[in-house]
Amino acid sequence: MKPSVPPCSLGSLKMAELAVLNCRQLVTLAGSRRPRTGREMRDLAIVPDGAMLIRDGRILDVGPRAEIERLLTPAAQVVDAGGRIVLPGFVDAHTHPVFAGTRADEFELRAEGATYAEIAAQGGGIRSTVRRTRQTTEADLLTAARRYRQWFLRGGTTTVEAKSGYGLSLEAELKILHVIRQLAADGGLRYVPTFLGAHEVPDEYQGRTDAYADLVIHEMLPRIAAEGLAEYCDVFCEPNVFPVDKARLILRAAQSLGLGVRLHADQFSPDVGALLAAELHAATADHLEATGPAGLSALKAANVQPVLLPASVYNLGSTRYPDARRMIELGLAVVLATDFNPGSSPTASIPMVLSLASTQMKMTPAEGIAAVTINAAYSLGRGGQIGSLEPGKLADFVIHDCEDYRELPYFFGRDPARAVYIGGNCAILNI
Ligand code: NIG
Ligand code: FE
Repeated sequence: MKPSVPPCSLGSLKMAELAVLNCRQLVTLAGSRRPRTGREMRDLAIVPDGAMLIRDGRILDVGPRAEIERLLTPAAQVVDAGGRIVLPGFVDAHTHPVFAGTRADEFELRAEGATYAEIAAQGGGIRSTVRRTRQTTEADLLTAARRYRQWFLRGGTTTVEAKSGYGLSLEAELKILHVIRQLAADGGLRYVPTFLGAHEVPDEYQGRTDAYADLVIHEMLPRIAAEGLAEYCDVFCEPNVFPVDKARLILRAAQSLGLGVRLHADQFSPDVGALLAAELHAATADHLEATGPAGLSALKAANVQPVLLPASVYNLGSTRYPDARRMIELGLAVVLATDFNPGSSPTASIPMVLSLASTQMKMTPAEGIAAVTINAAYSLGRGGQIGSLEPGKLADFVIHDCEDYRELPYFFGRDPARAVYIGGNCAILNI
């Protein structure tokens, strides 16, 4: 055994064999090969004083320290977790990470009493970010997105779903998806690309939603599918943005091209979005702040995963959080995500989301952690590769400076990740 190395050495360490030792709690999330529901969400399969063996970027073995130490070869490099907790990297299943500028000006207006809807109706909101993003070069968008990538990593996130949606023309949507492709090629954080051409009706199509939906269906989607630029298609389904009939047409077109489907559903208006997600057997229905019993039952019957975004509720100053307890009682495989974007949710912090989930939606810390690891991984079609620390999976793990996993939501406003490993490589060190 080589002498123990610090928790993380900066840069890419392509180590053939890695042993992670001295974990006060190794929070594995091991279990059946499907998303967790009901009481299962409270079982994190924690190994006290646990250890983990990694070879060529994949997990070889997980167990009590003494057991793993017996398996070590002299070639193994040791990562000493220092008596801290180790978790799978967080999987953030709903983000909008490529955009130009900020909307700090609108944040100030909202602090003075304006509402998100009023600002959007006056041409601000998503459309103001679209104007700026169109004028920004691919290189500058990439620079901004790489800065935000550090924020995700510092929060302990190792995979993000990344939506386009601030271009809203063929050229500008391609530009954003090319940025996402480059971010993925960089290594480090993993990206799962989603095409969100139907995020809003752009300025030049105001009053002509049908014509814009035609553009999305007949020009954008075929080109994006042909270039393999997205795995999923998403639509902002709201009566005054893309009403359910338009959303259905766009998402059916995406499915016929082989894309999976996720939806912004019932953020402000009740039920139709959830019902459409169920009808289409979407992978996820996201937001669901306004969803009632009919919508929830439909999601359950169609096996659609809810993605809850409490940071956007909080940041918009609302108190209408989605009914997470009801969803868990119904047996829905709940996911939590940041919704990182420049308007409704400018945070990349999963620990912040975990705090809101416990304080505002009464999810237990364990339920929250299941929702941002194994359940989020399944919602992205990656439950077999990431989301838990089990033999055969990719070695995406994080050492958090905590003694107990419940401290993650308890000490709020702090990102305690100390070392972040992706595929066995060290991605970031926070001292
Ligand atoms: O998920 N509601 C639509 N999309 C985003 C907000 C995007 C923005 O405000 O720029 C959301 O909340
Ligand atoms: Fe969103």
